Order: sequence, then structure tokens, then C-alpha cells
Amino acid sequence: ERLALWGGRFGSGPAAALAALSKSTHFDWRLAPYDVRGSKAHAHVLHAAGLLDDEELATMQGALDQLAADVASGAFVAAADDEDVHTALERGLIERAGPAVGGKLRAGRSRNDQIATLIRLFVRDQARVVGAAVLDLVDVLQARAVEVHGAPMPGRTHLQHAQPVLLSHHLLAHAWPLLRDVERLRDLDERAAVSPYGSGALAGSSLGLDPEAVAAELGFAGSVWNSIDGTASRDVAAEFSFVLAMIAIDVSRLAEEIILWNTKEFSFITLDDAYSTGSSIMPQKKNPDIAELARGKAGRVIGDLTGLLTTLKALPLAYNRDLQEDKEPIFDQVDSVMLVLPAFTGMVATLVFHTDRMAALAPQGFSLATDIADHLVRQGVAFRDAHEISGACVRVAEEQDKELWDLTDEEFAAISPHLDASVRAVLTVDGSIASRDAKGGTAPVRVAEQEQEAAAQSTRL
Ligand code: ARG
Repeated sequence: ERLALWGGRFGSGPAAALAALSKSTHFDWRLAPYDVRGSKAHAHVLHAAGLLDDEELATMQGALDQLAADVASGAFVAAADDEDVHTALERGLIERAGPAVGGKLRAGRSRNDQIATLIRLFVRDQARVVGAAVLDLVDVLQARAVEVHGAPMPGRTHLQHAQPVLLSHHLLAHAWPLLRDVERLRDLDERAAVSPYGSGALAGSSLGLDPEAVAAELGFAGSVWNSIDGTASRDVAAEFSFVLAMIAIDVSRLAEEIILWNTKEFSFITLDDAYSTGSSIMPQKKNPDIAELARGKAGRVIGDLTGLLTTLKALPLAYNRDLQEDKEPIFDQVDSVMLVLPAFTGMVATLVFHTDRMAALAPQGFSLATDIADHLVRQGVAFRDAHEISGACVRVAEEQDKELWDLTDEEFAAISPHLDASVRAVLTVDGSIASRDAKGGTAPVRVAEQEQEAAAQSTRL
């Protein structure tokens, strides 16, 4: 019969219900490759401290390499009574190196500093993987922006027509938050690159083991200054979790627009067949399921962050078993985001924009009213008065169920003596868009700069 890691002081094994509750191999197994890497580094510092001789070290490293290969091939898996990945891998090591050598590895380390280190290794790796997938979406948004450069659309606030903008400008407005998310993934690495290994259970190691040497071997920039902090904190994991939630939220905002744009009423886009779904009963249907799943998964990914933060709230120092709950939320977030992003990027890459339809709607809903006001300001009218006069134009046009440019010269003149025929020059979508030519504006010249800058930032990240 196999004994638990803490066999010595116990008269009996764990109750079945405890074992079932305690068990984590069904989710922490994905950390197995990191655990073996950590063990190899730990064996080196045991050797450096004189706690393993040369032969023992060679036996240990050989067995760990074999174990890593067996984990990768599936030849070694967790057994029903292995509590967690660490327990299982210690069993695997002892099976390969023998109890005399294999039993020495646990000296000077605890599962508490082990797991704290593994989660940081995971965060660092996955931050790169997720970042690359986000940049793929950024690059597609940028490429589509370049492709439709110059095409206008109705810009909205409150979901109402506000002012015309370039479609490229709008697409890039979704790219910038994603670029910042990737920046967040890059700079959290500075905090994740600190190794808790050597913190032991909470108080540090007494065996003359060098935490900095383990840290260096595992690719960390250094080791923690405080072993209690090293084992008890999960803020770095929470930070990663937040960025994943933010990515899901940022994608969900574009998802929502794609769902709207895909309606009959908008008819701004058509989704590619390969990136849309049908209905089992309604033969005519073509549904934006990718966008809906992106929107839906955002809820779940936010839930993961909320769960993790709630686990951490008011948790006393140092390690508490509650911390075992740190892993599933983050794994679920990574898996969800990595399912959504490739499908979503493919959908954006292949959808067709109906730019004629967008252009036709761009000036409707009196979206050029601000341009009348700005025109009057350029003639020396105070903006307060210009706003009133432009508002009166909207009222007169609305009463007659017509657009601003349908008002006659007489009607303009009756509204205000400042309104002569020259106002017609600003009542065009292209004129309106071209006039917003300060940095960050929607004028084609500015959006062209933006397109280049977004591409440059994506390359740099
Ligand atoms: N499996 C635990 C976790 O994921 C690590 C083990 C620490 N267990 C303990 N009893 N100290 O956090």
C-alpha cells in the first residue's frame, strides 16, 4: 500500500472523501514538465551543497530525464491515489532512481515553494503564447484597415449616429486596446520572473541551498526576497488573470459589433461560410456563432478572475490549501482565450465589408450637424450660438422629414443670416472626415499614420 507524503505521524491513510477532495492531478498534471525542470535544478543545488554526490546526481538527472520523457509520451501518468502532480512525480522518480537516491530530492523544498514556482513558469510561458495569438488579431485588424482605407461609416455614440468616421479608424480602435493587452503581458513578466524556489514551506531553506542558482537555471531573473511572500502570494497569477479577462472583454466588444453589423437591419458585413453556422430548423440562417461564443466566453473568463481574487481575499499568511484553487481558473482562461482567438481572427480576416452601405448611412441621422457648427465658428460665430443655429437646422429638417443638405438656401437663411450657401461645402461625409485632421483624428492622412504605427507597435511587441 502506498503511503502519503506525510506517512510518519499518521496511523491511518486518508478517508476516501478526503482523498477525493484533496486530489488535483486531474488539473495540475499540465504543470508536470515544469515540475521536472524544477526538480532537475533542485538536484543541482543539492549537489552543490554536498547533499548529493556526483554519482547520485547523475542517477537523479538520468531518472528525471526519463521521467520527463515518460510524462511526454504518456507512459507515466498519475495514479488514482497520487494526491497532486508533485506527489506523482516523486513516485515516478523513486520508481526510476530507486528509493535511496530518489528519496533525497525532497530535502530543502516543499510543495509550497514548488507550486508557487510552477505557476510562475506557466504564467511566463503562456503570456507569450497568448500574446502571439492576440497580435495575430491585431495584425488582421490592421491589414483590413489598410484594405478599406478611405471608406466611411457612421460613427456612433450611445449607439446613435454621431459623426462620420473612417471604417479603418474604427477597426484600429479595436486594435489599440489589444496592443496594450500584449504590452501588459510583456511587462508582467518582470514580476513573474522572480523565483519562489528555496522558500521551502514558508521560512526558507536551512540546508545551504542557493535559491539564486535554482532561479537562474529555471530562467528567472532572480529569487524572492521573502520566503513567506514567495509561498503565500499569487498576485502575479492574478495579474495574468486580469489581462486574460481584459483580452476577453476587448474581443467581446468587437464581437458585439460584428453581431450587430451582421443583422439584416445593419447589413454592414457578410460573414464567410467557413466562419458562420447554420440552423437545424431554419434553412435560411447564417449565424455569427464565433462572435457570440467570444462574447459568452468573456463572461466565463471574468468569472475565473473573480473566483481567483475571491480565493485570495483575506487569506492569512503563509501557504493555505485554498491556494490550490489558483490553477483551474487560470488554465480555463488560457484555454478559453486560446479557443476564441484563432476562430475570431479567422472570422475578421474573411468577413466582407459592405462599404457602400456604410457610406450611404454615414451622413444620415444628422451626423453632419457638428460640421455646420464648426463652419460657423470658423466664420467667427461663438460656438454657443453656432450650436443653437445648427440645432435649429436639424429641427427644421426633421420636421420636414429630410436631411440637412436638403434644406434650401432660403431655409438656411431664415434660420440664421450666418448661413449662406457656403455651408453646403461642409455637408459632405468626405469633407467632414477630412476636417478632423489633428493627431488621432479620423482624417485619411491621420488614419494612414495610425495604420503604420499600429503595424510598427505590433512588430515591436
Ligand atoms: N497541490 C497543492 C497546491 O496546488 C500544493 C501542495 C501543498 N500542500 C500542502 N499540504 N502544503 O497548492
